[in-house]
Amino acid sequence: MTVREVQDEILRLKKKNDICILAHSYQAHEIVEIADFTGDSYALSKLAATVPNKNVLMCGVRFMAETVKMLSPKKRVVLSSPVAGCPMAEQMDKELIEGVKAQFPDYTVVAYINTTAELKTVCDVCVTSSSAVKIVKAIENKNILFIPDCNLGAYVAAKVPEKNIKLLQGGCPIHAAVTRRDAELAKGLHPNAEMLVHPECIPAVVAMADYVGSTSGIMDYAKKSDKKEFIIGTESSIAEHLQYDCPDKKFYPLSQGLICKNMKSTTLMDVLDCVMNGGGEEILLDDETITKAKKCIDKMIEMGG
Ligand code: 13P
Ligand code: SF4
Repeated sequence: MTVREVQDEILRLKKKNDICILAHSYQAHEIVEIADFTGDSYALSKLAATVPNKNVLMCGVRFMAETVKMLSPKKRVVLSSPVAGCPMAEQMDKELIEGVKAQFPDYTVVAYINTTAELKTVCDVCVTSSSAVKIVKAIENKNILFIPDCNLGAYVAAKVPEKNIKLLQGGCPIHAAVTRRDAELAKGLHPNAEMLVHPECIPAVVAMADYVGSTSGIMDYAKKSDKKEFIIGTESSIAEHLQYDCPDKKFYPLSQGLICKNMKSTTLMDVLDCVMNGGGEEILLDDETITKAKKCIDKMIEMGG
């Protein structure tokens, strides 16, 4: 079967079986092409509660599928690749954060959405990379415990200096591995290019960027810009999608290491297996976890607009 034939079969089966396919922007291009919706974590969370289908297939990582399940508990939610975890989401557990909260009882706990459903049960509000600054600014409390990504947390702290933001040592191993030297080399090789980076990168890299934003933010910025060349400081799929969408512009990855193997663990054949044979992993969460964890996602949507 050709890629096109596999895609056509997926389109036919998802319609027949009433499945909505959601894809995070880090998915491969051939998956994005057959998805009903593609976007960053924030856009996908907002969509999760409104899709009309009985079944949702999430092509992304586990915390994204858990978010869909929390917002649409009656739907059958399937994660396209059972091994697709987000290493950052598993860095901190509920017990650790309960211990920190006991030490800092007057802090509001802000959790990056890249956390497990279980951890969200002890947090106050979620944020994504595109909503973090707006939400932290709007929180009444001056004292904020921001988990787990200390790089995103440092970016937010710089943008919202009026808050007292406490960070723990956590983050995305893919983005955090990009060095200042990588950025200097990329800029040296492409002196006319603008550098667009995700706030999960370290502060020294973020400081060198022309634009800092979420995956969708980076894509929108590059599409609207009059500039012709861009260094893309986030997962490699974003540079690939942009190259398809803007063939008259040039996109260079900031580093060759910007590949998330968890995001890339879903193949087009996995998607076919999910819609044809019930493959993937159905996400099951108990009612108590859904009720408690959903509160901080609802709060994010209420505050994030
Ligand atoms: P976005 O919030 O930009 O979609 O990013 C999600 C993610 O996992 C980044 O590594
Ligand atoms: Fe998690 Fe990083 Fe992969 Fe995003 S890129 S899913 S934060 S490991």
